[in-house]
Amino acid sequence: MIDVAFTRAEVRPAEVAVVIDVLRATTSIVQALASGYERVLCCDSIERAEQLRGPGRVLAGERRLLPPPGFDLGNSPSGFTEPQGREVVLTTTNGAPALVAAAGAAEQVVVAAMSNLDAVVSFVRGADVLLLCAGTDGMAGLDDAYVAGRIALMLEGPRTDGARMAQCLAEHYASPEIALAASRAAENLVQSGLEDDVLVCAADSIHTVVPCVTQASDGVVEIAATASEKQSFRSMQSVEHLA
Ligand code: MLT
Repeated sequence: MIDVAFTRAEVRPAEVAVVIDVLRATTSIVQALASGYERVLCCDSIERAEQLRGPGRVLAGERRLLPPPGFDLGNSPSGFTEPQGREVVLTTTNGAPALVAAAGAAEQVVVAAMSNLDAVVSFVRGADVLLLCAGTDGMAGLDDAYVAGRIALMLEGPRTDGARMAQCLAEHYASPEIALAASRAAENLVQSGLEDDVLVCAADSIHTVVPCVTQASDGVVEIAATASEKQSFRSMQSVEHLA
């Protein structure tokens, strides 16, 4: 079944949860791993991020869209194109808590944005999928719901009304640029002088990396690129079954 949860509060058990926070956390995670960072450690508080500070680690994230004091990077995907260490520690307002929630409910958690859309669709094809939208400040976000609809349209099989609603949204907008710009998350970024990030986050399938959660505990979720970009969730399951 293909299902959509429009806020992280709606998270529920699933074979595969695909977490979407296209403006901007999941776009930043995809960019970081595509650029060569080995792992992204996502956490739901600044305190936990500070505790994870260490050699080879870059502290990144946002509160009210801007980098917390003492952090190395904010949450603009363009900040992750040139690795400044081996790993990123990332804490954000919406995306990171959604990843923590998904890790507590799903067997497998995949990170999706516009930038790796095609690769994520190929990876999850055939699985029971919950498309989990991070939303903004606890409310549904048009930006994330649009990306969920784009993914749902490319998957076969039965789907819930939530997935059908997201599909209608995806079919309504002529392009990702127009859809993302129509969201409150984009308005917030424009008001903070971060309008360039909206266009960057709208780039369609420019990366083939499929970030997956490898470990999760105490509010920290470890994310790395899947072993092979050709792998699918089903193929990984069959290999694990043989192990
Ligand atoms: C996020 O989680 O991505 C933030 O809440 C919003 C942002 O950094 O643009």
